[in-house]
Formats: sequence, C-alpha cells, structure tokens
Amino acid sequence: MVEPRYLKKEDIERILTYPLNEEELLICRRHHLLTNARDHVITGSPEPGSVYFKTQDGQEILDCTSQAWVYNLGHNNPDISYAIYIQSQQVTHSWSHFLNPVRVRFCNKIAEISPGQLKGGKVSVNNSGGGAALECAIRLSLINNKKGNQFIVFRRGYHGANLVMMGASQRLPMRFEAWGKEHWVKSFFPYCYRCPWNYKEGYEGKRDKSCNLECLEFFRESIEMYPTGTPIGCIIEPMQGPGGQIPAPVDFLIGLKAICKNNKIILIYDEAQTGFGRTGKMFASDWYHSIYNKDVSPDIMTLTKGAAAGIPIGITVASQKLRTLTEFEEHSTFSSPPLAMAACLVNVEILQKNKILENVEKQGNKITLFIKDLSEEIPEIGDIRGPGLFIGVEFVKDRKSREPHNKLLESLIHIAWKNGIFFGEQMQIIASTGGYFIQNILKIKPPLIINDEETDRVCELFEKSVKETINSL
Ligand SMILES: Cc1ncc(COP(=O)(O)O)c(C=O)c1O
Repeated sequence: MVEPRYLKKEDIERILTYPLNEEELLICRRHHLLTNARDHVITGSPEPGSVYFKTQDGQEILDCTSQAWVYNLGHNNPDISYAIYIQSQQVTHSWSHFLNPVRVRFCNKIAEISPGQLKGGKVSVNNSGGGAALECAIRLSLINNKKGNQFIVFRRGYHGANLVMMGASQRLPMRFEAWGKEHWVKSFFPYCYRCPWNYKEGYEGKRDKSCNLECLEFFRESIEMYPTGTPIGCIIEPMQGPGGQIPAPVDFLIGLKAICKNNKIILIYDEAQTGFGRTGKMFASDWYHSIYNKDVSPDIMTLTKGAAAGIPIGITVASQKLRTLTEFEEHSTFSSPPLAMAACLVNVEILQKNKILENVEKQGNKITLFIKDLSEEIPEIGDIRGPGLFIGVEFVKDRKSREPHNKLLESLIHIAWKNGIFFGEQMQIIASTGGYFIQNILKIKPPLIINDEETDRVCELFEKSVKETINSL
C-alpha cells in the first residue's frame, strides 16, 4: 500500500470521496463553462465492474452507453483500477521521446493484435482520444503522400470536435464554422436503409440485392474528376457510430480499398467505437474477415473509447510500409500516457482470456433478435442494426415512408431513464435545409461484460419504455 507523504490518507479521501453538498453543486453551476451538464450527478457504481451506475440522488441505472462507449469492462472495473494503481507506483509520466517498460509492452501488444496489413505495424499513442489519433494519421499521410492535403470523408461521419477534425465530421449544431473545410471532400456512406439511389430493401446494414453500389461509383468518380489533383487520404468509420450505427456492406469496403490502392490514396479506418471488441471481434476489420473471409484492413487505423476501459487514450496504428514520424511532427507533453497504456494492456488481456468477445456476440444477438421479434408488434421500429453490442434501432413514423420519428426517440430516452435504464442516441445532425435536427436512432451499447440476466433486463426495459413512450405521444 502507498503511504502518502504530505497529507494524511483521510485528507485525500475527504477531497476525493466525500459526497457533494448542495452548495458545492450550486457554485459549480456558475463555474462550469459548458452549458450541457446534465442535472444528474454520477457518483460511481453499485459494485466494481458493474453495468449499472449510481447517481447522487440514489438511483441505480443500467448503462447502455458505457458512458460514451468507454467503460467496456463495466464502471470502475477492479482489474483496471489495480492496473493503474500498480502503474502509478512506477512511471506515470515521462518525456514523450523516452521509452518506459509499459510503453514498450503496449506498442508491441497493439502491433501484435492489429488486423490484416496492420499486424506488426507502427503505433503512436496520446492521452486525449480519437480526434488526436486521427490528427496523427493525417500528419502521417502528409509525409507519406506529398501530393496535396485533401482527404475524402463520408456523410454522417464523425471524427471528433477538435479544430482539425471538426470539418471532417458531419455538421453539428454549433455557433461557429469548422476550420479548414477546404481539406475535406464528402462522399456518400453506404447507408442502405436510406439509400440516396432509392433502393428499398436495404435492412440491418445489408444492401438491397439489386443495388449496384452506386455510392462506390460516386466515390470513384469523385476521385477521377477531382478538381485539384487526387486527395491523399480517405477517412472512414467502417461502421458508422455517431451517425446512426450503420455498418458498411463488405463489398463497399472491398471496392473502397481497391480504389484507394489504385489511386495511391491512404486508407484510414476510424475505429473509435468499433475497436476493442464492441462488434464481437477485436476490430471491425476482424469482424468482416470472420464473416466474409475478406481482408478489408486499412493502411492506418485509429482507436480510442473502450481501448483502456475507462482511462483516456488515443491510438494510431500504421502499416510498416509507411514512413515514421519525427518527434516534432507528432508531439504533445502527454503523448506517452503510462496509466492509460497500463489499462489498455490489461484490457486486452481480459478481452483475450475471458471469452468476452464471445459474450459480446451472444448478448448482442439476444438483444437484436428480441427487438426484431418486437418489431412485428411495433411498426415504429423501422430497422435494427448490429453487429455485437454495437446496436442501433431506427424509429420511424411509418415503415413505408421511413420518416424519422425524432419525437419518439426524444421522449423514449427520458422515459427509459425513469425506468432505470440509460440508452444512447444518435448524434444530432443538421438537415441540408438547415436548422432542423434529424435524430431518430437509439443506441444500445452496454459494457461488453454484460451477463444473461442483465441482458434480459435490457430487453424487458426496452419493451416497457418503448410501449410507454408510444402510448404517451
Ligand atoms: C467515430 C469517432 N471518431 C472520432 C471520435 C473523436 O474522439 P474524441 O472525442 O476522443 O476526440 C469519436 C468520438 O465520439 C467517434 O465516435
């Protein structure tokens, strides 16, 4: 056990663990720069590694968001707590140009588990997440492909809200414009349920049988007719998360990879949400390989969210064929975060040795099948998409027109909370007409360690909350 030197243990515990009082909360409202702080205060979990969290006002809520898809091993997982405790007694920080034991093991492990052409690749790490990991991928593309500084990205995509990535993301409700918009060209994501080419039978993330992949053709044409030479990179979420839980059909990814290769465009997968087991495989590329036996792995992959099961981290993995960045080309004071790397190493070991990925597939199938059955009774359920615990439910006013049922989603989130369950919602998207938000997709993405009984509870509370919501509209 560590013995504090300057303070007593009780003093430290008082600072960190004592319940908040009303006055502290009130004062904080004045000091909090963001307006979006919710009324509820999360104080922890009923037990270490739980799929539930506790609130200051005494509620226990089943968390189907894993708190922004991060707590993959449950809230306050004890193995992660122990990992950071042990690591905190070794190195918690060093200059980013020094190696330390956890950094060496971390790079080697990530290279070892990376999919396809990234296996044995090169690894960079940061402590601020997915946007920073993508910035690293962009810098790497700039030094490896000196033909320009433009990238192709996809509609409804989200790649972060830092100033560089904001322009790559779908337009969000903000009071200022994204910077550097000239660097991004947008193409169509294969959103088969709402196909711009009007194919009608694209359900569950699979394309209509008669579709000719016009969206891929559009991508190819955009490159061939590119006004200022070719773009140097293409960034895509192989399964869109924030935009609405939309897996790309494998044929699209196969074609995308081939077009990028033929045009010397660096292909970057943003696996912020799909990485580290959420689909039932370690990475989305692994999932496509396991189902279709096709290698759709990219040149660069970026990761964050559940990577360190609750500790902030961003990771960039590049193929060995790409040049390496210098210290000045990728640098921040905290770009070698030992606590996060320790947590990530332990997370990987747990995912690999405890049949967690199998559990994701099993519980994910159970929830999706349950909702599919329920949809026979509830016409407002338009589409259900997986895989694994990467679940989206699309609500519509009418199955034929597929008009998004925003109101239903909005009320459902509140009613579900009252019933003791917290569901995620698709990010707000500004419609092309401006000022109008499309937001009709519910997300069910609980911690990957959810058990049979808890999954049954998710199904039960989903049904109860949806029915109550429909009755209340
Ligand atoms: C797909 C995707 N990419 C990138 C990011 C950005 O990550 P961060 O917020 O850590 O910068 C997110 C965050 O939600 C994400 O979902």
